[in-house]
Parts: sequence; C-alpha cells; structure tokens
Amino acid sequence: MKINIAIDGPSASGKSTIAKRLANELSYIHIDTGAMYRCVAYLAIKRNIDLSDGETLGKMAETMDIALSVDGKVFLNQTDVTEAIRQEEISVGASKVSIFANVRSAMVRRQQKMAQAKGFIVDGRDIGTVVLPDAEIKIFQTASVASRALRRFKENQNKGLNSDFELLKNEIEQRDYQDTHRKESPLRKAEDAIEIDTSEMTVEQVVSKIISLIAERNYFYD
Ligand code: DC
Repeated sequence: MKINIAIDGPSASGKSTIAKRLANELSYIHIDTGAMYRCVAYLAIKRNIDLSDGETLGKMAETMDIALSVDGKVFLNQTDVTEAIRQEEISVGASKVSIFANVRSAMVRRQQKMAQAKGFIVDGRDIGTVVLPDAEIKIFQTASVASRALRRFKENQNKGLNSDFELLKNEIEQRDYQDTHRKESPLRKAEDAIEIDTSEMTVEQVVSKIISLIAERNYFYD
C-alpha cells in the first residue's frame, strides 16, 4: 500500500533534491509546495501588486492556475515558469507572501486536493503540521546555515554565477527568521516528525536513511 511522505525544513536544506530522488526511487509523485508560493510572488510582482497587501494577494491566490507536472515543471496560468520562479527576487517575495492566512489557505486547499490519494512526497514548511497531518512518514530536514550557504554557493558556481558566501548566509538566516516567526503556520517540526540533520550527509545517505525508516515502520511503498 502506498503512503504519503511529508518533508519540512528551512530554506536551502535540500528538501526538493531529496524529495525528487525519493520520488524517483519509489515511483511516487513529488509536490514542491514552495514552488506554489513562488508562483504567487511571481504573479504579484508581474501585476505590480504590493507584497504586503494580503487581501489582494489572497484573492489572486484563489483564482490563479498553478500546475505541477510529474517531470518537475511548474506552470502558472499555462505558462512555464520553472526557471523564472527560482530568481532571488522571487525567493524573497515568496517568503513575504506566504505570511498571509488567506494566501496560505488557498494553497493548502490545492495541496490537500493534489495529495488526496497516497503515493506523494510533499515538501514545504507546514506539510507535517497542517497540509498532511496524517502523513505516514514525516521528516524534518535541517542543515547548518554554513552548509546550506555552501550548497547554494556551489550550485551558483555550477551555473556560472558569482555569489558572495557571506551574503548567501545572511539571506538564509533572514529567511529562516521570517519562516519561523510568522503568525500563520510557522515552520516547526511536527511532534511525530523525525529530524535529519543533513549538514554532513550526501544525498544518497539521506535518501537511504528515509527508505530505511519506511522499512523500520513496516510500511510498504508500492
Ligand atoms: O521551499 P522554497 O524555498 O521554494 O519556498 C519558498 C518560500 O515559500 C519560503 O520562504 C517559505 C514559503 N513556503 C511556505 O510558507 N510553506 C510551504 N509549504 C512552502 C514554502
């Protein structure tokens, strides 16, 4: 029988990478909920909506069309925004728009509908606590600020982009603060989640740790 797996954790802790790899290994579907908040920020910026105007953002969030394809593409109102939503401006914007209760409820409703059945790996900040409180496996994935900044630094380097390590560290710290201190569904570990500190772990090690947790609990994943 298939199960659902929730992966929560701070920015740049590698949740999406792990979720994608796990989805591949288990033949599950990955839902990247951060991409959805990024779409809200992207469209708001495009429409010149003030990112502190929760009411207008909430209405926009209700009506916009967001589609996540099985191969990891993100479509906003039928346009492919997979790359566009990864810009730094959108990362900062997503953290801002995600504080509003009406934006969150519009997204949570969609996420719960998407993962109605089993066989999903959903990553975000409030998956184990709010979106899928009944998920069979809940992971709280963390990593030190320095190791997260280093991963971003290397990612940028691979893309041929220059970045300032100290600046990356500051940005991660700021986003952590914003995500953990907001009133609505702040990032926190669900009581029944298992914390994995990935600072010193490879992707393979994290994936096999989660797969062994599934086995330990006697869940079958197909
Ligand atoms: O995972 P990410 O970096 O793509 O997420 C972008 C922002 O969206 C992040 O700053 C916090 C917010 N977010 C959220 O509030 N709840 C989620 N379930 C996922 C992301």
